[in-house]
Amino acid sequence: MNDKTKKTVLSGIQPSGHLCIGNYLGAIKNWVALQDSHNCIFLVVDLHALTVKQVPSELRNRCLSFVAQYMACGIDPERSLIVIQSHVPQHAELNWILNTLTYMGELSRMTQFKDKAGKHENNINAGLFTYPVLMAADILIYQADLVPVGHDQKQHLELARNVAQRFNTRYSETFVVPDGLIPKVGARVMSLQAPERKMSKSDENLNNLVALLDPPEVIVRKIKRAVTDSGSEIRFDEERPGIYNLLNIYASISNLSSDEIEARFAGKLYSEFKAELSDLLVEFLKPVQKRYAELMQDKSHLQTLLKSGADTARYLAQKTLTKVYRKVGFVPYPR
Ligand code: TRP
Repeated sequence: MNDKTKKTVLSGIQPSGHLCIGNYLGAIKNWVALQDSHNCIFLVVDLHALTVKQVPSELRNRCLSFVAQYMACGIDPERSLIVIQSHVPQHAELNWILNTLTYMGELSRMTQFKDKAGKHENNINAGLFTYPVLMAADILIYQADLVPVGHDQKQHLELARNVAQRFNTRYSETFVVPDGLIPKVGARVMSLQAPERKMSKSDENLNNLVALLDPPEVIVRKIKRAVTDSGSEIRFDEERPGIYNLLNIYASISNLSSDEIEARFAGKLYSEFKAELSDLLVEFLKPVQKRYAELMQDKSHLQTLLKSGADTARYLAQKTLTKVYRKVGFVPYPR
């Protein structure tokens, strides 16, 4: 983790809903690939999750479950830091400092805030509004160079860059200004029932997503019900978003090219293609689910890994925070 020749990558997912193949193909798969060439930190951002109402016991279980799912997908705690955000209090401390450098006007322009405020009309809390500042703290506290995020987080990342630059200008060079690592639009996994929208782990309609922990019969049913488009040809055609999405999922998991896939299904029925896609997903998820079950059976092992990750993360975070506190003019902790 402390290899100075490597750049630092940081990313995180909110523990809400069910991790799905959209999260895997759009994020976690790329994280796995970055582990050798970069110092990586992967967060489960539980502080962020509180911006919408949570059932405490469920939140607790889900955080541990997400950690185990990260690992089951190939995040290796020997090489990367896996950290639950609330285990590192420095995130919240830096969040406060950055709050004082962020303007109301900037936050009012965040489209995700406007979306979420619309969806949770009776719980538009201040945390929902300042959410991107905490995200900036997550990134800047580790001096991250690269931040893999989806398209929907581009604006938040831009805010993190602006706040970092603002601090550096006001108080002298302190933060690395992070770059985004944003995947191509074509690689996005879309909702099974509404393929014009992104597949979301928090979708209320579970038929829209294939969860990493879905049992085989559920996967078969969800793929069978996935919307396709009028016509019967099995071709990569963006004008037909339903079948296009299913074909993209097939391509990402099989690693076959679009030509190979089209040749394979030439003259076949949607139903035949869907059956093969379900098989592919089931076979792909089988070892992930097996590894997940093993990890969840040994909670004390998980706790040990989390403790060691959190200790390293706290050390790194405190280095930044001490510098920040000195620069803004706080009295050093007496010793
Ligand atoms: N806001 C991100 C999302 O909803 C999650 C997140 C929180 C994050 N902190 C982060 C992502 C830091 C990258 C880096 O997807």
